[in-house]
Amino acid sequence: MTLLQVMSDADAGDVRLRTADAAVIGAELNKRGIVFDRWPAASDPAASTEAILTEYDGHIGELNADGRYKHIDVARIHPDDSDPEWPAKAKGAREKFLAEHRHAEDEVRFFVAGRGCFYLHLDGEVLAIVCEGGDLVSVPAGTRHWFDMGSRPDFLAVRFFEEEDGWIGDFTGNTIGERFPTLDELLVA
Ligand SMILES: [Fe+2]
Repeated sequence: MTLLQVMSDADAGDVRLRTADAAVIGAELNKRGIVFDRWPAASDPAASTEAILTEYDGHIGELNADGRYKHIDVARIHPDDSDPEWPAKAKGAREKFLAEHRHAEDEVRFFVAGRGCFYLHLDGEVLAIVCEGGDLVSVPAGTRHWFDMGSRPDFLAVRFFEEEDGWIGDFTGNTIGERFPTLDELLVA
């Protein structure tokens, strides 16, 4: 379920909006200058990276009409309980962007399948956006944010970069993320 929860940045308990209505989510994000879109679901989320990129070729071409994204790839992480290293790998992947940071370029992600939550720290508020298969979100360059893939990371996402090192985060040192509900908590709320 795609979900938007808007909270005060001073108090996570001050929930100003919680909605699963995609039209409302799009409108709320767009009025804050954040791109949100929905593309059709993938015919086979287990397909190869090449097949995924081919399937979304038209949408990707439209999004990248001006050619600003020089590097487009697919990131995937899926639970593998047969791998004894999986819990450590999952924890490591999750912790990477769990603290507040920003990027020099827009962070553009299209979720082909699975789930992840972006938290955007704007003026006086934090927007938690739980993205699922079919959701495209662009976190504007310079926007303070963090990302939670949950305790059991599972997603497949197309990433768009202007520069090869566009994913590098500038960490603010603010521990605000620790005071807000995790992805797991948002889903059961
Ligand atoms: Fe980021």
